[in-house]
Amino acid sequence: MSTQTSWVPPDIDVDRASPARVYDYLLGGAWNFQADREMANAAVARMPWVRDLARYNRTFLGRAVRYCAEAGVSQFLDLGSGMPTSKSVHEMAVEIDPESRVVYVEQEQVAVAHSELILATVPGAGILGADMRAAEDVLASPVTRGLLDFAEPVAVIMASSLHYVLDADEAAALVRKYLDAVPSGSYLVVSHITDDGAEGSAEVRQLVELSRSTTAAGAARSRDWIAGLFDGLDLVDPGLVFTSQWRPNTPLRLVTDLPAHASLLAAVARKP
Ligand SMILES: C[S@@+](CC[C@H](N)C(=O)[O-])C[C@H]1O[C@@H](n2cnc3c(N)ncnc32)[C@H](O)[C@@H]1O
Repeated sequence: MSTQTSWVPPDIDVDRASPARVYDYLLGGAWNFQADREMANAAVARMPWVRDLARYNRTFLGRAVRYCAEAGVSQFLDLGSGMPTSKSVHEMAVEIDPESRVVYVEQEQVAVAHSELILATVPGAGILGADMRAAEDVLASPVTRGLLDFAEPVAVIMASSLHYVLDADEAAALVRKYLDAVPSGSYLVVSHITDDGAEGSAEVRQLVELSRSTTAAGAARSRDWIAGLFDGLDLVDPGLVFTSQWRPNTPLRLVTDLPAHASLLAAVARKP
């Protein structure tokens, strides 16, 4: 039976889980439906630490944004931004530089609607409802051009979103397209799911299998493939590591015991 409610954009199928809303539910958010919660619970059954995975990814994003902002970057292009869960990129960036500008790009309509609501009164941030695979359109959009100056460094963020681009060559080429559009001194921030032989890889493969019944299937990739995204860039210490290991600021138990349970490899790199 349909669970359509009045605030939902009209052409949304609320009976089919979407990764944006499943992720929102795993992080404790309320912008999700029964189908998303059932999918999240199925994910927990296959990977009992999946909430940690989501939390580690989100906190990695926070530390990476802070790093870029402290390095002097005040412009952010957040591709596959999801729900504007606290703290969002613009909230973190303005803590370092109140003049920071952020463009969020997201294709999931509930996440776009939620972002529009949150950002309506935020002067330095905007949401572009678009498929990030259409890089030329994203880069040329009035939302993007109105907020970002491509003569100045931009932090290009693909946090837990590139693995939804199923064709590996297309995914790698997409990263290059965005990097080609930004000047020297810009940053690339990526986190990407991996099943590369580490602890938890079998569970990652089950998650990937489960994702096939959502609105967006995902693909796990090897450490080497993910590392290749950063070719020609200057990797920031500690390089490519699990999200929980990237400059952690809290001594979480899993960070020391089973970092591979984070399941996403992450890095930040500077364009020379
Ligand atoms: C797991 S969430 C991550 C959200 C956020 N980046 C974070 O790290 O907290 C992945 C997001 O990428 C979005 N996404 C996937 N493929 C996309 C595409 N081709 N264009 C735009 N957004 C996309 C999904 O809708 C989802 O909101």
